[in-house]
Amino acid sequence: MRIEKNFSLKDHNTFHLPVCTRWFMEYDNEDELGRILRDEYFQELRSLHIGAGSNLLFVADFNGIIVHSRIRGIHVARETDTEVILRIGAAEPWDDVVRYAVSRGWGGIENLSHIPGEAGAAAVQNIGAYGVELKDVVDSVETFNQLTFEPHTYTVDACQYAYRRSIFKDEQRDPHIVTHLNLRLQKRPVLHLDYAPLRDAIGALASPTVSDVREAVGTIRRSKLPDPAELGNAGSFYKNPVITAEHAARIQQQYPAMPSYPQADGSLKLAAGWLIDRCGLKGRQIGGAAVHDKQALVLVNKGSATAADVRALSDLICKTVHEKFGITLHSEPDWLPPSFQAA
Ligand code: EPU
Repeated sequence: MRIEKNFSLKDHNTFHLPVCTRWFMEYDNEDELGRILRDEYFQELRSLHIGAGSNLLFVADFNGIIVHSRIRGIHVARETDTEVILRIGAAEPWDDVVRYAVSRGWGGIENLSHIPGEAGAAAVQNIGAYGVELKDVVDSVETFNQLTFEPHTYTVDACQYAYRRSIFKDEQRDPHIVTHLNLRLQKRPVLHLDYAPLRDAIGALASPTVSDVREAVGTIRRSKLPDPAELGNAGSFYKNPVITAEHAARIQQQYPAMPSYPQADGSLKLAAGWLIDRCGLKGRQIGGAAVHDKQALVLVNKGSATAADVRALSDLICKTVHEKFGITLHSEPDWLPPSFQAA
């Protein structure tokens, strides 16, 4: 176990904003987690469990306890001739899990290559990229209840997965901390090449493998998305908005080439990055915060961004997109505290 007081979170959020927490605690197993949660002093303070901080925006100091898992490990829990159930500790870096699976030729998560963050947070967030969402391969999620201190295993259905959502995102409804993730991977993979740039990159190969997909995803990501180790960011800064077909048709009259993705209920999902780009905001900078010049959906820390810079830039983006397209953007990373969130 590790306990620190007045601890900087600069290296625990990939946007690298300069904020502090009153307490920072890390645990190595469920027993230690139980001891932290049972502590009377701890119970009086506000607490927040984080992963690698790749989807969090700390915009003020945190007057409470930040808790972080150090439960690691990737093991084969069960296997058949066709499938493998992989049990993964929540603190395992997500991309180490993908590398492990791909190096053995097991399919299911290769499209999710190179996403920053930890396995536990991936299960909370239902990460998605290039036509695959984590929910497609989740077998079950093991958790620790913060109120009853009991372990529980959620089947994939019980996780209530949706676009970047799960039951674990709503702590009011479900006070569970993810400890392990169980994935169902395929020994004879069927590749998912629906995403056009991926199909274009792989299409020419005679019999592409999961390694080829991982490599192509790496190339596509590097061309658009900044590496948080080099340029602070929190991935997509907004969710892709879903609007009515009538609203989309009005925009399409002016922009026939606007990308849109039909949803099951007849509505259309648009690309927030495209909308921001059309507003001419790519590269726009306020203080140390900027709209990434290769992908308008990502805001970056040019090195000295403050929380106020990020908020001012986000306010400008939301206001401009709303004025031009009548669409309200919603933030994708969680803001802390949430009341600072612009939209
Ligand atoms: N576009 C522009 N200008 C831009 C950015 C995008 O015109 O500056 C256009 C693109 O040309 C494309 C469309 O918008 O036609 C969509 O862009 P892209 O394919 O890059 O995907 P995205 O919608 O911007 C989503 C996810 C990403 C994920 C990619 C690939 C969300 C919020 N974001 O981005 O996830 O990697 O698809 O599947 O759903 C993340 O969640 O942090 C993340 C990076």
